[in-house]
Amino acid sequence: MRIFSGIQPTGVLHLGNYFGAIRQWVELQEGNECIYCIVDYHALTNEETEPDVLRKARRELALDLIACGIDPERTILFVQSDVPEHTELCWILGCVTSYGDLTRMTQFKQKAAEQEFVNGGLFYYPVLQAADILLYLADHVPVGEDQLQHLELARRIARRFNSRFGELFPEPQPILGKGARIMSLADPGRKMSKSYGPEHYVGLMEPEDSIRKKIRSAVTDIGLTPGQEMSPGVANLFTILELVAPGELVAELRKQHREGKLLYKHLKDVLYEELMNALGPIRARRAELSAKGEIDEVLAAGAARARRIAREVMREVRARVGLD
Ligand code: TYM
Repeated sequence: MRIFSGIQPTGVLHLGNYFGAIRQWVELQEGNECIYCIVDYHALTNEETEPDVLRKARRELALDLIACGIDPERTILFVQSDVPEHTELCWILGCVTSYGDLTRMTQFKQKAAEQEFVNGGLFYYPVLQAADILLYLADHVPVGEDQLQHLELARRIARRFNSRFGELFPEPQPILGKGARIMSLADPGRKMSKSYGPEHYVGLMEPEDSIRKKIRSAVTDIGLTPGQEMSPGVANLFTILELVAPGELVAELRKQHREGKLLYKHLKDVLYEELMNALGPIRARRAELSAKGEIDEVLAAGAARARRIAREVMREVRARVGLD
């Protein structure tokens, strides 16, 4: 399989990113051809992104990904804007994308509703995402649940291009992991995300006491709807626990919960311990990596490899549409 996925360099890698996507990225390196992209053009759609912050965030994210286990020898790890073919394909694909489809993207609608000035990049965002994937003829895309609609659109765009200009792009399928939907600890009705403020995410590299505090203050007791056995906040803590703790331990805590004997403070303490155990090696590797200064070379080499594929595919795309 050829795997492609992307992540925005927006400052912090959080548990949602890690369990929703990055852990799968790492596992998929075994036996597949993987291409992982730091999507800085996408990050520009966020008006708060300052140039110096973006510049730094791309490198920091690359180091975070390597600490998580992305191996830039085996895998192509690169920055989107180093491969200009992404924006070129984006334009061409935009011309086979339905305007109506773009207006139905829930992420766009949500973001547009939250801000006064809505830039055009935000509207075009999913076309660029489709270009990212299709540029490498990728057939599988490991993502969290929030990206499923964008992937569905990428498939529609691929179909539309193929039917008009001849079969070229595979229809990319999502790969969803067990952590595909991690919710905010402060508001379990929303997904864990950087956009809602620091209390709504837990950073992978955050100081221990800050992580402990966020877990301790996780909301557990908002009301149950009829038929629900567990409040959304508690369910979210169990979801995260299941990703890091041995099965028997989770089963035992679930049993205590069913019997009405589980103290949430205990659940939170166990979660904190197990999470820190799971993240320990990643955090330690990250601390070592920051001492080295080779990340620019690593990313340049990744971009050169990505570009070899992208150039070939673009040559074909140009010929198909009559731009050669
Ligand atoms: P981004 O940068 O918001 O997130 C990166 C990955 O993390 C997943 N994720 C989550 N998973 C579970 N629970 C959460 N709370 C959570 N929050 C984030 C996302 O689903 C994603 O897989 N548009 C993409 C970036 C992108 C891309 C692509 C992805 C650009 N081009 C091509 C795949 C293929 C985004 O903003 O992800």
